[in-house]
Amino acid sequence: MSLEQKFEALKEGTEYKFFINGKWKKTRSGKTIPIKNPYNDEFVASIQACTREEVDESVVSARESITCWVETPLNQRVDILRKSAELIRESAEPLGAILMKEIGKPIKSAISEVVRTADIFDGTADFASIMGGETIMGDAFEGFTREIISMSYRVPLGVVLCIGPFNYPFNLTGSKIAPALVAGNTVIMKPPTQGALTPLHFGIILEEAGVPPGVFNIITGRGSEMGDYLVGHPGIDMISFTGSSTTGRNLAKVAGMKPLLLELGGKDAAIVLDDADIETTVKEIISGAFSFSGQRCTAVKRVLPMSGIADKLIKRVVEETQKLTIGDPAENNTIGPLIDSKQCDYVQGLIDDALEKGALLKCGNKREGRVIWPTILDNVTTEMRIAWEEPFGPVLPFIRIQNAEEAIKISNESEYGLQGMIFTENIDLAFNIAQELDVGTIQINGKSSRGPDHFPFLGAKSSGLGTQGLKYSIEAMSRPKAIVLNLSKRGKLIRECGVYR
Ligand code: NAP
Ligand code: G3H
Repeated sequence: MSLEQKFEALKEGTEYKFFINGKWKKTRSGKTIPIKNPYNDEFVASIQACTREEVDESVVSARESITCWVETPLNQRVDILRKSAELIRESAEPLGAILMKEIGKPIKSAISEVVRTADIFDGTADFASIMGGETIMGDAFEGFTREIISMSYRVPLGVVLCIGPFNYPFNLTGSKIAPALVAGNTVIMKPPTQGALTPLHFGIILEEAGVPPGVFNIITGRGSEMGDYLVGHPGIDMISFTGSSTTGRNLAKVAGMKPLLLELGGKDAAIVLDDADIETTVKEIISGAFSFSGQRCTAVKRVLPMSGIADKLIKRVVEETQKLTIGDPAENNTIGPLIDSKQCDYVQGLIDDALEKGALLKCGNKREGRVIWPTILDNVTTEMRIAWEEPFGPVLPFIRIQNAEEAIKISNESEYGLQGMIFTENIDLAFNIAQELDVGTIQINGKSSRGPDHFPFLGAKSSGLGTQGLKYSIEAMSRPKAIVLNLSKRGKLIRECGVYR
């Protein structure tokens, strides 16, 4: 059967199953969850609402497969990752089409998300050699000699639970699965409910690429119903999670002492100094704020312009915002639906609050169904909710500032600390400001973003725990194991006229 035929067979009619120990199953509860297109409410397919017993079965399957997988030589695990990358790349169009329907992502971006995932599988394979570890001689530390030698290599943690968010459901599950597998862990994936269909295809892709049954398992169902049980399960050894800070905080409480990698929310601020190149700044701000309708953790979520550039900048940003296309993601419009009506109400609440408190509406504030027109607010103050809360929608507040100190203060008062941006021609000043910002990454003259994927990606404060990125994710999903050799005097080499005895 071809890969495409296997994809077709995966949904029996329009009902997707879940995947344990190499078998596709329907839940014994008989309960399914319908997935509808957020743009037009058309039914796409349904997924299984797994029970606690089925969660237990996935854990048993993953645990029983640990030995088989860890004993598979690293070079074979690498080959499997490369084969998976090939299969993902081949499937970019059909998978992108499903992704577009289930989360309302513009079709071109949906296909790019799949291709980027293939690149992450290949890139992870490139970094696999870090599992080889290092040798350290004792004499670098006071009081020790070269007769004590640590040889460490990296070992997997066991069963890794991978939980992804709705906005990158394929990519942000794939970016967890690849490092977990190459490090020798077995995996349970829990995809987001809205966005579950595309990542379910990993079951077929990884099996086709040579992952043995039981090494990779998928469980589906609402996080609010089964998440705590899964996260707190004693059979899970490590959790890699991307999602909101609220869910992340709860997860950390329930998980106890398990190692965690958390990528959470953000409120990335773009500081624009008077000497910034205006056209570069406008281009970066527009694409940063409005790609996928602002539903990105790294979206530009507030702009802090200095008074000398503010009027010009806002005028140009409004002009370019009004050119954005709005409508059906199938037609590749930039602005499409938000993921659900509750999220639209939340975004509208932030706009209404700002307007009631005196913000100036420059464009937008229109809603049809789940589509919110890109909205720009000027004269936003720190008393308004939009200055601090993450909208996850197409609304961009401008908070005018007098100087760099004020920008640093407002940036750092956020509970979040994902990324920051500084737009200026004065690179020395940019570096000095960058050193003051309490965030994971600062972009100079560019929009905030996660990639390229071999860069470290992390959030400070409520934005996360641990570091993601090709090499960093493998490190987070493995640990060093050290064997220390204490050399005895017996084998000591004594040099005598160039002859050893
Ligand atoms: P979310 O509501 O927190 O959901 C994320 C995932 O957690 C989903 O798979 C969800 O399943 C699951 N979940 C829900 N409750 C759970 C529980 N009690 N235990 C375990 N898992 C549970 O986030 P989202 O709405 O999908 O994504 C948007 C948020 O993610 C934004 O805040 C955004 O900034 C953040 N995000 C951050 C990054 C980053 O890299 N920093 C990247 C992307 C998104 P269900 O779908 O079944 O509820
Ligand atoms: O939504 C959160 C993602 O990690 C952002 O990734 O910056 O490549 O869009 P991105």
